[in-house]
Amino acid sequence: MRRMKKRYISATAVSVLFLFLLGGCGKQFVVDEGDGGSTEDEQLIVVGVSQLGSESVWRTANTASIQETFTRENGYLLIFDNARQKQENQIKAIRSFISQQVDYIVFSPIAESGWDVVLEEAKEAGIPVILMDREAEIADESLYVTRVGSDFRAEGENAGLWLAEHLEQQGRADEEINIVVLTGTEGATSTIGRTEGFEEIARQHSNWNILEQTGADYTTSKAKEEMRSILEEHDDIDVLVSQNDDMTFGALDVFKEAGITTGVDGDVTVISFDAVRTALELVRSGEINVDIECNPEQGPYIENVIRMLENGENIDKNYYVPEKIFTQENVGMYINDRSY
Ligand code: AHR
Repeated sequence: MRRMKKRYISATAVSVLFLFLLGGCGKQFVVDEGDGGSTEDEQLIVVGVSQLGSESVWRTANTASIQETFTRENGYLLIFDNARQKQENQIKAIRSFISQQVDYIVFSPIAESGWDVVLEEAKEAGIPVILMDREAEIADESLYVTRVGSDFRAEGENAGLWLAEHLEQQGRADEEINIVVLTGTEGATSTIGRTEGFEEIARQHSNWNILEQTGADYTTSKAKEEMRSILEEHDDIDVLVSQNDDMTFGALDVFKEAGITTGVDGDVTVISFDAVRTALELVRSGEINVDIECNPEQGPYIENVIRMLENGENIDKNYYVPEKIFTQENVGMYINDRSY
């Protein structure tokens, strides 16, 4: 799998901010070129990572995991690009990685479709591609070597299963239950999987009414906007399913403004996803009922895959990262270890 190391790696000096002007659009790629030293540098594995953006606390933690893993000390030269929520920027970044002849391309597809052409180019250049976090819908599966990320469908199902059990425990299993769902970025695997997984369980409960299912892009500001208009239409919400913590923070603010209480002792049951520290604190205080974890610490798993490829080992087409479910009962055992 290893190819000749690229010349520009050994021709380095001190740490620099390396600016590539792509087609005159001023795109920035940050390259940590360390303190020089040619032979040692030639051993570094060059990894180009296209991150989709920085829309959430989860995403920031995911980026940190990559940057903490692919260090010179660990034997890597990381070329990192933030696509700022634009698929076209991710495609440009991948093309730039190809022209720089990196050893591996890692990227988190903002949406599932639209990758075939650029990944064909990576394949022609002989560069293995690893999907991080989300999936890509690609006709020819040989265009990527593996994917490391969450089982989003299972996350959605777990949300539904938790709700069924919760209503049972409250003696409300047969009541009419009105549900609002805030979904994430359209076309993203996390949105598709969580939506399908939850709907699968909802279909088994004819008394669950999904009043609204609205996109809020995984951001707090959009969630506030959407929640305000939902509250203008509905005053009978029993459950909020919010597909990430950032959107949950926005929705909780809007509920507060409207004098609606949430969580364990509140009017609205809140189900969130991600389980970042601030949200876990709200689980502990009872404002959020349950948080379905989405694990952003994927760097070490991706590195493991690269090590296996370097050793010529066979790898699977998909690796799921481990994830938990947090409620007021168990959150105390985990919250102090949460670094993000
Ligand atoms: O793809 C993972 C999702 O993307 C996380 O749930 C969300 O917070 C992020 O933006």
